[in-house]
Amino acid sequence: MKIAVLGAHGQIAMLLHPILKSNGHEVIGLIRNPEHADEVSRAGAEPVICDIESEDDISDAVGRVDAVVFAAGAGPGSGAERKWTVDRDGALKLIEAAKRNGISRYVMISAMKVEEPRGNEVFQVYQKAKSEADKALRESGLDWTIIRPGRLTDNLPTGRVALGPDLEEGEVPRADVAAVVAEVLEIPESAGYQWDLTGGDNPIESAIKQEIA
Ligand SMILES: NC(=O)c1ccc[n+]([C@@H]2O[C@H](COP(=O)([O-])OP(=O)(O)OC[C@H]3O[C@@H](n4cnc5c(N)ncnc54)[C@H](OP(=O)(O)O)[C@@H]3O)[C@@H](O)[C@H]2O)c1
Repeated sequence: MKIAVLGAHGQIAMLLHPILKSNGHEVIGLIRNPEHADEVSRAGAEPVICDIESEDDISDAVGRVDAVVFAAGAGPGSGAERKWTVDRDGALKLIEAAKRNGISRYVMISAMKVEEPRGNEVFQVYQKAKSEADKALRESGLDWTIIRPGRLTDNLPTGRVALGPDLEEGEVPRADVAAVVAEVLEIPESAGYQWDLTGGDNPIESAIKQEIA
């Protein structure tokens, strides 16, 4: 498949590209900063410039791919405004681009418990932005899968997770999130599911297959 990853210089995305490449896919890495092009290229994705906050229509940048992955985020240092423009509107622009380009498959990296806002004001805006983006995707008519990780860590991958519609809070290595995203792209029957994701005991492929059985 040809797969476009939005937010391609992000930490999860940079772990995802080599997995997708080794699974035989061609990866388009959508980045906002041209200086990241070489790094993204070395990770296995073809860099394409796409700043979701400065473009209304990102369909040209996304191109004629088979699947898209939303891996972007305004990040912890950003204010409330960018939660709307990146975390919500960026995801919505990717939905529109997918529809315009006839791309049915969309995998979203979301976050756990975004319908139960907690924390400071900016964090609550982030959760609302993610929640609205996820709702729009569920209602989009696309073949979506929404992965909602707990707190992200930079620990080494374990290849084992807990996956399900409503899990207890927990943390999960970014590398295992990347592996789950790559695996759902291998399993078209994972479309139409939204799962929380934390560290756990279940090998990734069997965790997904148990949920869709
Ligand atoms: N932190 C947590 O504990 C946690 C828990 C659950 C879910 N999540 C979600 O998981 C997502 C991915 O995590 P991560 O650690 O991989 O995030 P990350 O390293 O912050 O990556 C986010 C990427 O989005 C890109 N981006 C920001 N604004 C953009 C724009 N206007 N146009 C295009 N790209 C833009 C950034 O580009 P630059 O490289 O140019 O900055 C960055 O590469 C987070 O954003 C968050 O929503 C996080």
